[in-house]
Amino acid sequence: MVAVIEKTSDLVSLIQNNKQKGNTVGFVPTMGALHKGHLTLVKKSIKENDLTIVSIFINPTQFNDKKDLAKYPRTLEADLEKLIPTGVDVVFAPTILEIYPDGDEKGSNIDLGDLDNNLEGAFRPGHFKGVAQVVKRLLEIVTPDKLYMGQKDFQQFTIIQYMIDSLKIKTNLVVCPIIREPNGLAMSSRNERLSHSTREKAGIIYTTLKAIKKSKGNKTIKELEQYGLKRLSIAPFEPEYVSIVDGHKLTLLNDMNDTDYAVVCVAVWADGVRLIDNIIL
Ligand code: PAF
Repeated sequence: MVAVIEKTSDLVSLIQNNKQKGNTVGFVPTMGALHKGHLTLVKKSIKENDLTIVSIFINPTQFNDKKDLAKYPRTLEADLEKLIPTGVDVVFAPTILEIYPDGDEKGSNIDLGDLDNNLEGAFRPGHFKGVAQVVKRLLEIVTPDKLYMGQKDFQQFTIIQYMIDSLKIKTNLVVCPIIREPNGLAMSSRNERLSHSTREKAGIIYTTLKAIKKSKGNKTIKELEQYGLKRLSIAPFEPEYVSIVDGHKLTLLNDMNDTDYAVVCVAVWADGVRLIDNIIL
């Protein structure tokens, strides 16, 4: 039976009891509106830990656009229906006050090692400060042995790994591959907001990423990025960026030989929805 917990103090006692028995804890932080990508993380955690906790918390401090926060789907009942069959132990669904008892203003001065300068960070000012703030708070509450995140949010997991290392937080970050819809579109809670026709056509994002990977030996970085931008500039899609970066530092690359870990990241608008995706080159 899944336990749905709202109070931080209740969750902390449950975790303490489990740790006293020697149980390991796996943690999947989410903002709800769950899809198969989330459920894959949950199932992996269940396989690898004695106790799995999923949090559902729409974190206001990571929304640089308040309209986006207002539009974010709130689907707790449907999320629970998806989670129960996985056999997850605990769903932590706190109020804002439980997470930010002293207020939720972006008070976090967590060092992000300049990893938030490019890609999403350049277009969503303050977003990663908010993500780091809430993940740090959740890690303090849950103290998991393992933390599960998806590769789709490449910059997010890179920043969280940096934060874990620099603050010496005792947890292991497990990054899971992107789960895709049959046409290749990366699964995301935002896909629900696309029209049927746009969702069908959105496989172009992944085919473009794969085409860039295929041509990486024959074209310069600039040419590859230009090629991606052109291919994705077809209605209803409007690319915001197609950037090839060093996967460690998230700096823009000029030459593929400057790194052993190149990644192409994209953000594309369609139907007023911002879609992101990436592929390791
Ligand atoms: O990826 C998300 O859903 C969120 O950014 C996270 C990690 C749950 C923090 O609110």
